[in-house]
Amino acid sequence: MDELVNDIVQRSREALRVIRDYVHKTPIEASSTFSRLANGKVFLKYENLQKTGAFKVRGALYKVYKIKDKYDGVVAASAGNHAQGVAYAASVFGLKSIIVMPVGAPIAKIEATKGYGAEVVLAGTVFDETLKAAQKIAEEKGYYLVHAFNDPDVIAGQGTIAFEIMEQLDSFDQVLVPVGGGGLISGIGSVLKKYRPYVKVIGVEPSVAPKATRALQEGKPVTIRPGVSIADGLIVKTLGDLTFKIMTKVVDSMITVEEDEIAHAIYLLLERGKVLSEGAGAVPLAALLYGRVDTRDKTSVAIISGGNIDLTHIYRIILRGLGREGRLARIAGYVPDAPGQLRRVLEVIASNRGNVIGIQHDRIDPRLPAWHAKVIVTFEAPGRDKIKTIVKTLRDEGYDFWEEDSYE
Ligand SMILES: Cc1ncc(COP(=O)(O)O)c(C=O)c1O
Repeated sequence: MDELVNDIVQRSREALRVIRDYVHKTPIEASSTFSRLANGKVFLKYENLQKTGAFKVRGALYKVYKIKDKYDGVVAASAGNHAQGVAYAASVFGLKSIIVMPVGAPIAKIEATKGYGAEVVLAGTVFDETLKAAQKIAEEKGYYLVHAFNDPDVIAGQGTIAFEIMEQLDSFDQVLVPVGGGGLISGIGSVLKKYRPYVKVIGVEPSVAPKATRALQEGKPVTIRPGVSIADGLIVKTLGDLTFKIMTKVVDSMITVEEDEIAHAIYLLLERGKVLSEGAGAVPLAALLYGRVDTRDKTSVAIISGGNIDLTHIYRIILRGLGREGRLARIAGYVPDAPGQLRRVLEVIASNRGNVIGIQHDRIDPRLPAWHAKVIVTFEAPGRDKIKTIVKTLRDEGYDFWEEDSYE
């Protein structure tokens, strides 16, 4: 076995012992709904139920444990799960922590991090500036800067998830892991390649940030310009040199998923599974549901890596999901500007069990056909077919109506 991978596995075995008392052994469950939708057996590993709401705390705990006797405090640059992980780990081992977040970080994240006892400093608007500020603080204070992924102990801490899965499941064929900087997959992949070498380790990332897909294709770390993603935890410009090296040895394949697919996976996890996942955590399930991996006659494990999602995001995802499933609709059209016309439109909707939740009625717009008003009606609907019936009935009656496809 490769020396580098072996070293991670040894550390990960120790990490398991060290962090055991401070983290949850998160549940793993078979999902009949997702197995049916993915055409193969699907298990979900719920790291969204981990302390601090994400797996990051595992690596942070092991790293802080390793350095705790040499330093009084730790510093991290993160507005995400690493921030809370490091803050929690520092509090466990009695160290001070300073977490540097970009200016404009969500208040909820700042408060949550403070809640674990950290001092939060706001600096920089892009991550590189935030990291520079963190480096400066670490130097000035003599604190240790904990990297979010490019560190053997952090990687080993994340690898403890694989030991848990092996304990919880007798046999499985493939594991799907979200990839940001590559720490999570490097840890899980190392342990699995040592003890279950036949298990396929598959990395998943958003198509707007394919740094790992490209790096593995080109045989070297590649710096990309990522777009905006609902999977904000996976937005990294480049893999670490260490994570890249390990990934070339333990990752079987990389796949990408689209933003809409991630949003739909979050929605389905919530609706069908009663599980709250953040974007990054839903990426593996999106890959399974959208046929990006071979699932036939296979047992797949999807790592739901975190559950820290902004409430305003959930609201939009639910609206989109309801729209996609035909349970929320928006139709628009022109009606003659005369008494009783709007009522007829509403009657057609009601007789098809549509429940109106909003109406816009515009008779002033100069672009309107003469003596007409534009009407936009939003309603809860019993399904796609009924929405089509409503629009068809209105058109048959002479109203110029159509279905609008945006719910945001
Ligand atoms: C919820 C979640 N999943 C996955 C990842 C990716 O982990 P890594 O950067 O180790 O690849 C992150 C990173 O922040 C995360 O917060």
